Amino acid sequence: MTVAHDRWQATGVPFTFISSAGGLSMVLQWPGAAYRSSEVFDTEQERIFRSTWLCVSRSARLPGPGSFLNIEIAGENILLVRNREGEVRALLNLCRHRGSLMCTETEGNFGRSIRCPYHSWTYSLDGQLLSAPYIAELSPEAREDRDLYTASATEWLGYIWVNLDPHAEPLASQMAPLLEARFDGEDVLAKYDTASLDVAHTVVYDVAANWKLIFENFCECYHCPTMHPELCAAVPQFRTGYGTVSGPARQGAELAADFSGFSLTGAATADPLPGLDAADERMFYGVLLWPSVSLNFTPDHVLCMRVEPLAADRTRVVAEWLFHPDAMAQPGFDPADAVKLFDVTNRQDFEVIELVQRGTRSRRFEQVYSPHEHLIGQFHEWVDDAMAATAGPTEV
Ligand code: FES
Ligand SMILES: [Fe+2]
Repeated sequence: MTVAHDRWQATGVPFTFISSAGGLSMVLQWPGAAYRSSEVFDTEQERIFRSTWLCVSRSARLPGPGSFLNIEIAGENILLVRNREGEVRALLNLCRHRGSLMCTETEGNFGRSIRCPYHSWTYSLDGQLLSAPYIAELSPEAREDRDLYTASATEWLGYIWVNLDPHAEPLASQMAPLLEARFDGEDVLAKYDTASLDVAHTVVYDVAANWKLIFENFCECYHCPTMHPELCAAVPQFRTGYGTVSGPARQGAELAADFSGFSLTGAATADPLPGLDAADERMFYGVLLWPSVSLNFTPDHVLCMRVEPLAADRTRVVAEWLFHPDAMAQPGFDPADAVKLFDVTNRQDFEVIELVQRGTRSRRFEQVYSPHEHLIGQFHEWVDDAMAATAGPTEV
């Protein structure tokens, strides 16, 4: 059956959606253009990445009042600033006088205020205009409402999350349905207390593929027996083609009997994280918080992967291995063995994801999904709903 899908037609790309016959008839696949068209990418930037919560940085990178990070989200230059009360603010890096960028450094400390280098208009760490030379000579109308534009910002799991919509619904409204669907009410995240952990290692992957192909891959473990021998040795359940994210059960998956930790050699890197009960000390959990995060929980560490679309066919993935600070303080602490298991797995994933990206160039490109890949349907539905939204934030 062929059905037109009007949600995507607004992008200007003539799409035809084909629903697969049989067991998974509700899973709508997307045409190749959905993964390689710059028009679709721009529309996604507008309708998804300018109006959803995105994980952008570890909180610890803003250590105290005045510290800032200069980041880019969906073409917008944002200054993340910790104010004097210790809260994170997201301010547009755009002076309200004549529109100059105010800061080109990637990180640092503003001290008590933010001063534009052009004519010295000066703003508080919350973005309020504090002073400007000869401002009394401006008309009252010109002086009115000259504070910096803001985006929404909050902290969760030890990460800073930003939504370019200054009036965004709370982060929980985006995350709660995803967590509920995955963990069925169990507060798995609390046990791992990700906010208390520190980054022991970071790898940045530059993937020549569309961001949606990366999430589609993360949605299923059908490829695990073929692609991931090392991961399957650590977590035997993955040999069935069902991962912890793709179900069918909502529990985590147990480590192999001869593995004492989630690592390439099977050795533990550190003691189990302090909040875990005995069963979780041998479990692996995963959850996808689209459109920006894959979180993976192991007995002694958490891996957070942030997915940052750069172009229709290019995506940056930032992987951070988080360990407990007490473990990292131990003499001889070395995360390399643990890092290798996920790193090997990631590189295997990204290699085949790039092959699919190349496949999207064919006019005959199409996909069909096995029952193992049912979660892709939920991801597509979420993206389709977001793309159906008529407008992003107007102020930003
Ligand atoms: S443009 Fe910033 S002070 Fe003039
Ligand atoms: Fe994989």
